[in-house]
Amino acid sequence: MTKDQDKPGDEKEYKTSWKDSIYNPRTGEFVGRTASSWGLIILFYLVFYGFLAGFFCLTMWVMLLTLSDDVPKYSDRVPNPGLVIRPKSLDIVYNRSDAAKYNQYIQHLDNFLQRYNDTEQASNELCLAGEYFEQDATEVEKKVCQFRRSSLRLCSGLSDSSYGYAEGKPCVLVKMNRIIGLKPLGDPYINCTAKRDASLQLQYFPKEGRIDKMYFPYYGKKTHGKYVQPVVAVKLLLTKEDYNQEITVECRVEGSDLRNNDDRDKSLGRVTFRVLVTE
Ligand SMILES: *[C@@H]1O[C@H](CO)[C@@H](O)[C@H](O)[C@H]1NC(C)=O
Ligand SMILES: *[C@@H]1O[C@H](CO)[C@@H](O)[C@H](O)[C@H]1NC(C)=O
Ligand SMILES: *[C@@H]1O[C@H](CO)[C@@H](O)[C@H](O)[C@H]1NC(C)=O
Repeated sequence: MTKDQDKPGDEKEYKTSWKDSIYNPRTGEFVGRTASSWGLIILFYLVFYGFLAGFFCLTMWVMLLTLSDDVPKYSDRVPNPGLVIRPKSLDIVYNRSDAAKYNQYIQHLDNFLQRYNDTEQASNELCLAGEYFEQDATEVEKKVCQFRRSSLRLCSGLSDSSYGYAEGKPCVLVKMNRIIGLKPLGDPYINCTAKRDASLQLQYFPKEGRIDKMYFPYYGKKTHGKYVQPVVAVKLLLTKEDYNQEITVECRVEGSDLRNNDDRDKSLGRVTFRVLVTE
């Protein structure tokens, strides 16, 4: 009961003090401060945050100055490359009697190999086989070692414009992803195997699936724009018994320090694809 009587008075008092706390006409204070006091506070924060932002930008700028576009700064070791294949499909399925079914693969290979045309490559360097092709940091436009399309022989698309697809012995190109600064030790080569009991005959171009050291290191897009990656062509010599059944093929880079058996990353140094040719 007493509470009910008290209430109207309380409310009135509360209202006046609440209004005063926003704007007090007697002292000219707004939320407890005069205009000049507010001005100083706003000025202080403007200067304070302005300084913080400026400092942030300065440190960012200094850090970016020390970064190079093509070399990762904080990396203790060069990463391992993944393997990829061309045509860009992990399921190569076609009917060898039906050109419409394999034309897409041929198109893909034709496009990919344009840059390897002998006429294009003639202007590049003839490098020493088996040696890294290291170049001075002062070299603004890095030179490129020749990789001639004709060295892929039966898989070059020159002597056989269907890359073996029409005869049911398709070619697949295997290459490593570009990694700046990578210099594989040993003598890397590509080794492909069919995941089945019966073995599968394969033919490699260049010989033995070698990846020559002369194509390393790669210096990055900016200075090494005309770089072409070394490619290994694998011709799958399928026989009549191999048609109409899916064959899983795994290719690995071997003979070097490049990793090819990482449990977590199955694309490191290896690639698996399926082939199914019908007739
Ligand atoms: C492959 O193509 C040929 C010719 O078009 C056709 O006769 C044959 O049935 C096709 N084979 C399959 C498995 O589709
Ligand atoms: C590369 O060579 C192929 C086959 O000789 C030809 O069709 C193609 O036009 C050439 N491409 C370039 C860019 O020279
Ligand atoms: C290729 O790999 C298979 C399976 O791992 C192995 O048996 C074979 O000896 C290898 N070939 C070469 C030339 O290393």
